[in-house]
Amino acid sequence: MKFFIDSADISEIREAAALGVLDGVTTNPSLVSKTGKPFRQVLDEILEVVDGPISAEVTAVDFDGMIKEAAELAAIHDNIVVKIPIIHEGLKAIKHCAQNGIRTNCTLCFNPLQALMAAKAGASYISPFVGRLDDISHDGMELIQQVRTIYDNYGYDTEVLVASIRHPQHVVQAALMGADVATMPFSVVKKLLQHPLTDIGLEKFLADWKKLQESVSSK
Ligand code: G3P
Repeated sequence: MKFFIDSADISEIREAAALGVLDGVTTNPSLVSKTGKPFRQVLDEILEVVDGPISAEVTAVDFDGMIKEAAELAAIHDNIVVKIPIIHEGLKAIKHCAQNGIRTNCTLCFNPLQALMAAKAGASYISPFVGRLDDISHDGMELIQQVRTIYDNYGYDTEVLVASIRHPQHVVQAALMGADVATMPFSVVKKLLQHPLTDIGLEKFLADWKKLQESVSSK
């Protein structure tokens, strides 16, 4: 399973990359906007830190605008994956990109039919937003299960990228369901290893060790 960080903040991305298990990065216009930096600068900084797929989203909503932005983004670096929303014009743009060797991450997916259409158009990744579905009392992870089943039924190789992750349990469920990628905010990355019994256990081991050192050194 691949782990991506869902962030455009270079310090967060650096810290996550230092863990040694980061496979890629996803950004979106809101995340880039938070940095206050020009888009190109944000992408260049990320490209220097992470050698893996980096999703960069188009902001045009018409086919011509989308494919123009997609070509420009893809030309920056081989690791750039163009993020395109699952709207009519977006679907056409995904198909065009697939035919022209540009990898795409189909975003803003909220139902299984959108995911099926994206796969048929040749999207490299599908991004179902699980947290935003949970937020409106739908079961976000149920969508992941549905998409996984549909893709397996027909052998689509579009990768299931679980997005809008809110907590580690989303990551556990994604792994159990066989999702290909989990993209998570840095707050969730930091929680993946946390367990109170680990902390208590380590504290006890170190205290016992210290006791031994004190007793042998006093002999
Ligand atoms: O990048 C897409 C997605 O992960 C957004 O997540 O937390 O804004 O719903 P969120």
